[in-house]
Amino acid sequence: MKRGVRYIALGMLLAFSMFLTACGTSGGGSADAGEKVYVVGTDATYAPMEYMDDKGNIVGIDIEIVNAIAEAAGIKVEYKNYGWEPLFSAVKNEEVDFAVSSITITDDRKKEYDFTDPYFIANQLILVPEDSPVESFKDLKDKKVAVQISTTGHKVVEKLLGKTSANILAPESMPLAIQEMIIGNADAAVGDNFVLLDYQKNNPNVKLKTINDDSFEKEYYGLMVKKGNEELVEILNEGIKKIKESGKLEELAGFKVE
Ligand code: ARG
Repeated sequence: MKRGVRYIALGMLLAFSMFLTACGTSGGGSADAGEKVYVVGTDATYAPMEYMDDKGNIVGIDIEIVNAIAEAAGIKVEYKNYGWEPLFSAVKNEEVDFAVSSITITDDRKKEYDFTDPYFIANQLILVPEDSPVESFKDLKDKKVAVQISTTGHKVVEKLLGKTSANILAPESMPLAIQEMIIGNADAAVGDNFVLLDYQKNNPNVKLKTINDDSFEKEYYGLMVKKGNEELVEILNEGIKKIKESGKLEELAGFKVE
């Protein structure tokens, strides 16, 4: 008799824990218990693209775009903040399934990672104090320039100033690079246009101006996947294709992405 009670209790416990597991993974959607949730790594210091809101949630245009891609592709995603450089090893080590971080698709990166089709278009931009004499990119030749380390902006500035130039300041995040310019350690900051424009807009008390330069090439953002994970690239590309066709991507990006 005692044993029977124990079995019933055990059964109830089992049923209850299965119920809990189901709740935990469904996330309010139509997902089955145990459905894969893709872990998406990011550097959430990059407003308006990916950043933390007041409650510590990872939000931004990139996040909305990936949410739309995931919905169109029929997969579930969750986000993890890694910082910029650690993000690349996280993709390599399979700590994350893929990365979204305004990552420009470059030939160098394509040697080590796979990318989806482009979902966003950007370019470099120069941010300087309003009274700066700088008028073009060439004017930065003998100036101190702040960039976020290992970004396309860093590469562009290295080309002008020289790879080993002591005039390049390259902290780990874009806000830190902008800060170097604000406090006067650097004459200019160079980085992705939307991020610098957003900073300027949100800090009207800091007198700044932005400078575009014809030498800055169009940059295409892609989602970055571990090299060889063709299956995931295909799933994500399918989602990207769908939101391009439906007009959803244009709505979220604010312009048409071909
Ligand atoms: N688009 C530039 C690059 O790919 C900068 C991206 C930086 N993104 C970030 N979340 N910090 O190098």
